[in-house]
Amino acid sequence: MTAEVTVGLLGAGLIAGVHAHAYRACPGVRLVAVADPVPGKAERLAGQHDAKAVGDLDDLLATGVDVVDVCTPPTAHADATIAALGAERHVLCEKPITRTMDDARRVLAAAEAAPGLLSIGQVARYAPDHRLARDLVRAGEIGELRMVTHSTTSSLPGWSEAGWLTDPATSGGPLLDQAVHGFDYARWVIGSPAVRVHCMAADSGAGPATYTLSTVRYESGAIAHVECSWAHPASRGFKLRAELVGTGGRLSWDNDHQMAGVLHAREGDPEWWDALGDREFTRELGAFFDACRAGGPPPVPAVEATESLRMALAALESARSGRTVDLTTWEVS
Ligand SMILES: NC(=O)c1ccc[n+]([C@@H]2O[C@H](COP(=O)([O-])OP(=O)(O)OC[C@H]3O[C@@H](n4cnc5c(N)ncnc54)[C@H](O)[C@@H]3O)[C@@H](O)[C@H]2O)c1
Repeated sequence: MTAEVTVGLLGAGLIAGVHAHAYRACPGVRLVAVADPVPGKAERLAGQHDAKAVGDLDDLLATGVDVVDVCTPPTAHADATIAALGAERHVLCEKPITRTMDDARRVLAAAEAAPGLLSIGQVARYAPDHRLARDLVRAGEIGELRMVTHSTTSSLPGWSEAGWLTDPATSGGPLLDQAVHGFDYARWVIGSPAVRVHCMAADSGAGPATYTLSTVRYESGAIAHVECSWAHPASRGFKLRAELVGTGGRLSWDNDHQMAGVLHAREGDPEWWDALGDREFTRELGAFFDACRAGGPPPVPAVEATESLRMALAALESARSGRTVDLTTWEVS
């Protein structure tokens, strides 16, 4: 691959806009084309970044881009990722890797056979506080890590195209859409596979199982508590809180106003204009483009993101059945 990396964006919704913005901070990266089935969306995003709007994934591939960045709802991740890998492109696919384990297995098989790289957008690993905390744990600053608490709480996300986030069949609700970051981070920082998950969930006006508390036991003996809600008051914003406790100390951080930028127009509801910030996305995408140039390895391998998906699916199953899920034997499609 030449020093310049060319990118095609599949999907032109919220996260595609965040990615397109982040490419600008990645030297030698150029957004070439954007595709989205909803009329006008690809044109709007492409127009903001001197790219062109195209009809679909085939048209995107026909532009000859080096990278396909899959920013669709999760039910569309597998087919798009497999097609782009089959066309010998590098692929960054947003989290969760897929909506189901069957789809994740198809993606894993395609990634194994493909010459291109596949990395998954488990972006919490790139948030500076999360990453520094992990580095400190690795350096032995808090002794042996025994307990992780990760909490993300917000109101029901309102931006998704035709409301797919609020449809559990498509999004999996907060456990698959949001808590998957907490599961992924806890597994990454603990460095040991999860063996048991128990989850309790409560319904709210925002929908079924929109308040969730999961506890996880790892092979190393460490435990984690992953709290996730889409049922908090909108006026409270998006909050993130984390704590790592080890035999020799404790690390914590508390982002009281993660989504701080709010636009109050004369009419209508307030809008978040700085919804997710640039910091972790620029690092995530930069690391991915560097890996593409270097020929690997992928920064977030699909196999690790599949493990995080499985934990989120197990938490969903536990919330439904009221039972603890034994991950050493549990099978799910
Ligand atoms: N890492 C994060 O923090 C983060 C934050 C938000 C969203 N996401 C993930 O990003 C993905 C997209 O979420 P979003 O919030 O941008 O949703 P969105 O609804 O704002 O945008 C999704 C876009 O994909 C388009 N689309 C649907 N099917 C398509 C297809 N087959 N081909 C091309 N485009 C298609 C839709 O028309 C829509 O414009 C999801 O996987 C979501 O979980 C990650």
